[in-house]
Amino acid sequence: SRRILCIRHYCKKTPTKLRVSEAISGSNLGANIKIQGWVRSVRPQKKNLFLHVNDGSSLQSLQIIATFCCSQIRLLTFGCAVEVTGLLKQSPNQKQPVELEADKIRVVGECNPLDFPFKIKERHAVEYIRQFPHLRCRTNAFSSLLRIRSEATAAIHSYFKKNGFVQIHTPIITSNDCEGAGELFAVQPQRPENDVDEKFFSVPAFLTVSGQLHLEVMSGAFSKVYTFGPTFRAENSQSRRHLAEFYMVEAELSFTQSIEDLTEVMEDIFKSSTEYVLAQCAEDVALFHKHVSPGHRVSSKGMTYSEAVDILNRSSQNFVFPTEWGCDLQKEHEKYLVKHCGNIPVFVTDYPYDLKPFYARDNQDHPEHTAAAVDLLVPGVGELCGGSLREERLDLLRTRLEEVGLEDAYSWYLDLRRFGSIPHGGFGLGFERYLQCILGVDNIKDVIPFPRFSHSCLL
Ligand code: 4AD
Repeated sequence: SRRILCIRHYCKKTPTKLRVSEAISGSNLGANIKIQGWVRSVRPQKKNLFLHVNDGSSLQSLQIIATFCCSQIRLLTFGCAVEVTGLLKQSPNQKQPVELEADKIRVVGECNPLDFPFKIKERHAVEYIRQFPHLRCRTNAFSSLLRIRSEATAAIHSYFKKNGFVQIHTPIITSNDCEGAGELFAVQPQRPENDVDEKFFSVPAFLTVSGQLHLEVMSGAFSKVYTFGPTFRAENSQSRRHLAEFYMVEAELSFTQSIEDLTEVMEDIFKSSTEYVLAQCAEDVALFHKHVSPGHRVSSKGMTYSEAVDILNRSSQNFVFPTEWGCDLQKEHEKYLVKHCGNIPVFVTDYPYDLKPFYARDNQDHPEHTAAAVDLLVPGVGELCGGSLREERLDLLRTRLEEVGLEDAYSWYLDLRRFGSIPHGGFGLGFERYLQCILGVDNIKDVIPFPRFSHSCLL
């Protein structure tokens, strides 16, 4: 049979199945191994054939030498899936210290390289690669990105675990609009046309824009809670930092004294996750132009919104958007402020009260009407985190809800202030923007496996 033809050295011992990352680590030299992956290059040299096989476990591919010929060899092309067994040995090539001398090669899935959208050894533009969301994980840069994303996720969970936070699975489907910005996706069951009279949830239901209000419920029992999951905003934006579906890390802390209780946690998460990723994924990270390096710091000073507006007005920049007190800070303003502070992350606090949602705590002791809110602005991206102390005083919160006509809808929220209310606060960190920042990725669509944005929901 074909298989028998391919066997040069029949070995009684069953080969050990290894990931490419394990094979190239050098700790299995002399072993009879099996690897499975996708061919990244095929190069005939004299009577031999050199292959590079990658299985996603590492940026590096394993070099394989085939010194024999069989029908399977003729099927080997860039992009095909293979299973190779053989002897793992030291390579004479310094760049590639380990190689696999194949005794058996099986093409598991063929690939016609003429039809495959990516060409061997060619650098493709990100805009081109983005057109193939089902295949772009086969490119080096995107597979590195996804390994980094996975490690960064682990680092964030590990930070919260180490620091005594309880993870809460906040709901994806909700009946509240936490941010009140009208960017909701409505959720309805799909029914035959003539079967519409029954409402599934009895109330309007939406995909969540933030898990904050559910976290506030839980912080009233667990003190320190967090959630890390998908979040949805119907933003009609094609911008480089907005998605319709993104991942948000949200934390809520009870018994807070001041906004510094929040900035400390934001700073710690940013630093500890980044240190972890830079150390754990050094090889993958090296493919990117990063905005941060080990030892990076968050601006120790920070500034108030009023100081930020002063800085913007004193600059000689021609901003497109207005910079008067009371206007929302735009990306161009945020980028300028980060640069002004020496291109390091910076906190901006005490935003105008009217710019913030109903839950933000009123800074009653300030001469200007501000809320105890804070944003973390970072290089390359602008706003990375948004947070605030929450209004825990029942009378003030009730008045605010009445003003915005939400008193009835949020009677349960007022209950939290009736039964053991505590000073508390929290924040949300946009996970894709975090990756953009640490890796210097210009477009948010290139840091998420399957980007969703207005007019685009591929796959
Ligand atoms: O500032 P935001 O809207 O804050 C909240 O939703 C709060 N309820 C969070 C909380 O306090 N628990 O969003 C938080 C962060 C932003 O700073 C930004 O990084 C990211 O989420 N973000 C987006 N990321 C990608 N695409 C979008 N459309 C985003 N909108 C917000």
